[in-house]
Amino acid sequence: MSKKSGVNKEKFDELSKKNQEAMLGGGEKRIEQQHAKGKLTARERLQLLLDDGSFEELGKFVMHRSRDFGLDKEHYLGDGVVTGYGTIHGRLVYVFSQDFTVFGGSLSETHAEKIVKIMDLAMKNGAPVIGLNDSGGARIQEGVVSLGGYADIFYRNVLSSGVVPQISAIMGPCAGGAVYSPAMTDFIFMVENTSFMFVTGPNVVKTVTHENVTAEELGGASTHSTKSGVTHFACANEAECISQIKTLMSYIPQNCEEEAPRLPYTPGNEKREVLNDIIPANPNQPYDMRDVINGVVDEGSFFEVHKNFAENIVVGFARLAGRSIGIVGNQPASLAGVLDIDSSIKGARFVRFCDSFNVPLLVLEDVPGFLPGTDQEWNGIIVNGAKLLYAFSEATVPRVTVITRKAYGGAYDVMNSKHIGADLNYAWPTSEIAVMGAKGAAEIIFRKEISEAADPEAKLNEKVEDYTKKFANPYRAAHRGYIDEVIFPDQTREKLIRAFQMLENKVATLPKKKHGNIPL
Ligand code: HXC
Repeated sequence: MSKKSGVNKEKFDELSKKNQEAMLGGGEKRIEQQHAKGKLTARERLQLLLDDGSFEELGKFVMHRSRDFGLDKEHYLGDGVVTGYGTIHGRLVYVFSQDFTVFGGSLSETHAEKIVKIMDLAMKNGAPVIGLNDSGGARIQEGVVSLGGYADIFYRNVLSSGVVPQISAIMGPCAGGAVYSPAMTDFIFMVENTSFMFVTGPNVVKTVTHENVTAEELGGASTHSTKSGVTHFACANEAECISQIKTLMSYIPQNCEEEAPRLPYTPGNEKREVLNDIIPANPNQPYDMRDVINGVVDEGSFFEVHKNFAENIVVGFARLAGRSIGIVGNQPASLAGVLDIDSSIKGARFVRFCDSFNVPLLVLEDVPGFLPGTDQEWNGIIVNGAKLLYAFSEATVPRVTVITRKAYGGAYDVMNSKHIGADLNYAWPTSEIAVMGAKGAAEIIFRKEISEAADPEAKLNEKVEDYTKKFANPYRAAHRGYIDEVIFPDQTREKLIRAFQMLENKVATLPKKKHGNIPL
């Protein structure tokens, strides 16, 4: 640089150094504090997430504008959040990473403005937003301006929904507003033992409801991945969490106008004999639908979402001939694969994500119906089951179903039947497509005849056999064209590869409307 230059390099370097320290939360001591809790710093997390050297930071010099409660004397450059953009496997993403060591990562007016800035850029440029959350919620000292900041973010979460993918990682104790923004994003990841999510923490809970509950019980990763279903992924540590986010990214597109990245694929022998041995001889015996999934998709490509919640339905991404697909499968190994409130909500949410972002849907069906009982009825299985029906019905991406065994009752309609817009339905020879199981059906429709028979039990068995012969197979449905083809299990992969190729240029639109009214 010439002596005449007005640019003062020394000053610039000094400020940059100060900034670096401040951004790490005020230097070594704060980094140590964070590490002592088993957590990485905001910047270390970004380093793991983004391609080397790709991060461009925005708003390094931002400071809060508070005057109350002594905050006029305490400033940190960046104000507790690192924001900017970078790449993951060469693809653009916008990121924010909250710094718990600065006022507990709490959200001030300026902290919010930085997040809003990258969310706006993401929308204009069509790229995902990934938020690494570690925050005590609204900055209490700031009052309404921090609440306003949250609302500005919530509003953008909603406007961005279905336009660009939004991913949240919870990497510390997140409370209040810090949980509502993630709740409106597409996927939530939590880290076991170091992250919590709650609207109000254990102390407030104790005061209001007199319940004694630990932070982990109230809102830890295991609670939210199994009981509430708030989080889609529970990860053993931060490194695993970040690695999982990157894996998820590989299955999804940049925005609603694009398709997910494709891996190269060379066609080969697609026959999968392993599929012939999965369905047990006894129709009441369980099996793991994941075995069917793994037998059908590209080897090792199944990436399960919401694994520990509502285990009677399995959802996740996979690749078929290199192309990303979303899979929804009933799980006979849990509650016989019955549909209940939680599984309907889980399935519906996943279907809507895939449909928003052009990921074709494969449904693997083995479902004995909806779960009966007061618990389900009183908690609204009617409205909640309807969510899954609604989500499939409005999905316009390529949609293919394979019935592996039972397709009973309303669940036959709901699980991506052709009647609600699926493109193709296949059935294995083991399929039973009927209003209900043969025994239940016989008991209802032949009640009088059975009770009046000399040997009621023999009569019942005769009627069960009769009903089974008629309906416990896929051919009645195939005669009507409801099933496009009855296929042998080992043909499934090949059939599906061809089907999705055939549907590649599918164009389907919904009737003109402002938006539908999904039963919430
Ligand atoms: C300002 C905060 C803060 C906040 C934490 N800190 N939360 N500062 N505003 N919201 C500060 C603490 O004062 C402390 O500062 C430092 O961050 C670390 O906090 P600790 O309590 O020591 O940490 P820990 O024990 O790990 O507990 C973390 C926590 C707890 C569970 C998040 O801090 C907590 O309960 N915070 C308040 C949560 C909350 O009620 N937020 C407001 C919600 S209302 P020092 O200087 O001591 O290190 C809200 C409105 C939006 O968010 C609603 C939208 C719908």
